[in-house]
Amino acid sequence: MKTQVAIIGAGPSGLLLGQLLSRQGIDNIILERRSGEYVLGRIRAGVLEQGMVDLLREAGVDKRMDEEGETHDGVELALDKRRVRVDLAGLTGGKTVMVYGQTEVTRDLMEAREATEGTTIYEADNVQPHDLESDSPYITFERDGETHRLDCDYVAGCDGFHGVSRKSIPADRIKEFEKVYPFGWLGLLADTPPVADELIYARHERGFALCSMRSPTRSRYYIQVGLDERVEDWSDERFWEELKRRIPDDVADKLVTGPSLEKSIAPLRSFVVEPMQFGRLFLVGDAAHIVPPTGAKGLNLAASDVNTLYRLMVHVYQEGRTDLIPNYSATCLKRVWKAERFSWWMTSMLHKFSEEEDFATRMQQAELDYVTSSEAGLTTIAENYVGLPYESLE
Ligand code: APR
Ligand code: PHB
Repeated sequence: MKTQVAIIGAGPSGLLLGQLLSRQGIDNIILERRSGEYVLGRIRAGVLEQGMVDLLREAGVDKRMDEEGETHDGVELALDKRRVRVDLAGLTGGKTVMVYGQTEVTRDLMEAREATEGTTIYEADNVQPHDLESDSPYITFERDGETHRLDCDYVAGCDGFHGVSRKSIPADRIKEFEKVYPFGWLGLLADTPPVADELIYARHERGFALCSMRSPTRSRYYIQVGLDERVEDWSDERFWEELKRRIPDDVADKLVTGPSLEKSIAPLRSFVVEPMQFGRLFLVGDAAHIVPPTGAKGLNLAASDVNTLYRLMVHVYQEGRTDLIPNYSATCLKRVWKAERFSWWMTSMLHKFSEEEDFATRMQQAELDYVTSSEAGLTTIAENYVGLPYESLE
């Protein structure tokens, strides 16, 4: 088998890149370890920045998003029950975000790929890139007990945090930066109407809580939990009770509870690898960086990497410009680090870190008080939340 760009991973990064490349006539094949149904079963983020919405339009997958996605021009912060609205549109000259689930984005991209007859090889085992520093890299993988070889010009490592791409770079050629937080998020998805029209990020002395949504009839809620907590110990009832205690009373009174469709615990981590490329391998999305979910940046950062690699490949194949290739990593990282900072900052401000009322707790309270009572402070949140501009390769 032979292609121009071999893409490892059929998450949102791999599928979006594949779709954009195909529309420009750049041949690509996606290799995915799991089945399509498994990929669609993962419940992840739900807030899209304008840049990602525009990129999905460019990929031709905007129809259902426009019908079912919800434009939000504000988010709320609830601070020990005091409510502050961040007027996203008013503070950023009219910018907004789109609430549309990652699962739906993935489904739309899968359908678009099927319609254009793009090749995705699901259940590809033991995917292994080779000769990445040469001019003719290739990938080997197993399917149905047979070993296959895929020759290509470039490899896009879109295989998430646990994928093989980053691991195939020699340790002495990359540097990893990591921060692990001493808590996780317990998330619950339910077919109940959202408790409010806008997302509510709540800081409370019992811990952080988030009220989010997928549609007018489907809600997504999260609460901060200790790293030793097990999802089996959280009945739906216990979850709803704890959530109610952490959000303002008038919001709690309106909360409609119901049976969970999904419930899981995710640890919080900040992680970046530098550089994001090695020879002809480019790392994209979660393969290169992880943010804690507090700023809703994970999926959006993946989209901005895709944007950079897509434009780079168009320069290479349509203009023969290979001189921009060395710029990939630095272009992505400029934006990655700013989103890392925002996600870390939001996480630091809104979570409970220690049992004691210590100096750090007072600093956190003072910072929140300042940020939420100053237009400059609220603007900082708003302009990061709607998404910083995409960086250019030149
Ligand atoms: N071989 C082939 N495929 C692999 C391998 C491998 N060795 N390892 C992982 N994969 C696949 C996974 O099964 C998954 O479908 O790669 C895909 C990676 O998808 P995601 O983890 O969703 O990562 P990405 O596409 O970069 O999506 C951006 O940002 O913060 C998050 O929620 C956000 O998941 C989203 C991500
Ligand atoms: C979600 O709806 O899953 C969600 C929304 C906002 C976040 C994180 C997760 O910051």
